[in-house]
Amino acid sequence: MRLVDKVAIVTGGGSGIGRAAAIRFAKEGAKVTIADIDSTGGEETLGLIRESGGKAIFVQTDVRDSYQIKKLIDNTTSTYEGLHILVNNAGIGHSEVKSIDLPEEDWDRVIDINLKSVFLGIKYAVPELIKSGGGAIINTSSLLGLKGKSYQAAYNASKAGVVLLTQNAALEYGKNNIRVNAIAPGVIDTKIIESWRQNERKWPIISRANALRRIGTPDEVANAILFLASDEASFITGATLSVDGGGLTF
Ligand SMILES: NC(=O)c1ccc[n+]([C@@H]2O[C@H](COP(=O)([O-])OP(=O)(O)OC[C@H]3O[C@@H](n4cnc5c(N)ncnc54)[C@H](O)[C@@H]3O)[C@@H](O)[C@H]2O)c1
Repeated sequence: MRLVDKVAIVTGGGSGIGRAAAIRFAKEGAKVTIADIDSTGGEETLGLIRESGGKAIFVQTDVRDSYQIKKLIDNTTSTYEGLHILVNNAGIGHSEVKSIDLPEEDWDRVIDINLKSVFLGIKYAVPELIKSGGGAIINTSSLLGLKGKSYQAAYNASKAGVVLLTQNAALEYGKNNIRVNAIAPGVIDTKIIESWRQNERKWPIISRANALRRIGTPDEVANAILFLASDEASFITGATLSVDGGGLTF
């Protein structure tokens, strides 16, 4: 087991990639805090982990809110010993519209949930990671943080921001033995891609737009998150790992 005695927080742990990562971490011996705005999803993940003998708690959290992020971290460190791993993963998409038609409120919501949340996670977790002697932060960016796509202005900008926030934190806290990396998933089979899946004309193209000609699974992304969280990645920091079936090169 690769995460024995480690304490980890996974945001967006109530669904998709975050759920798969939380379950994987628990199987590897970590004590996991599942954070999500959706209590039904969060409790479901909690049940799945406990059923298979893992240790976890759920803390309902809106990752846009600094007070709730502080409470999430306090709840975790008071329940378990310290904090070693933070996965800043919660995120949303937005409807496919030209930038000139994107409502300002939608821009703000996407930037707050996908990017400001990563800043808040780093801001409040780093002091606890330092107290624990160091650790790892993994931020979920996207293929669309590395490559532009029409009608995705806010999502593109938020996920590109995550890539450089990752490099920034890696530089600032490397001396504290904290590694900070990002993952950049391609099209993965979760709720967030539901509207693309409904598009009968575009889905056959979108779902095969990579070298492997298929979409990925949440477990395939969780494997990459686990690797970056584990000691096997001890000399990797500031990196963005594509988990996209070759989507970036396509
Ligand atoms: N699925 C893909 O194709 C894909 C590709 C690239 C990147 N991503 C990124 O992966 C991450 C996980 O998404 P997913 O694919 O598992 O989708 P998902 O919709 O299954 O999971 C996202 C989770 O984030 C939670 N969430 C949303 N807003 C929140 C908030 N304000 N506070 C706390 N939690 C909140 C949701 O409740 C949900 O449980 C996101 O950052 C997404 O942008 C997904």
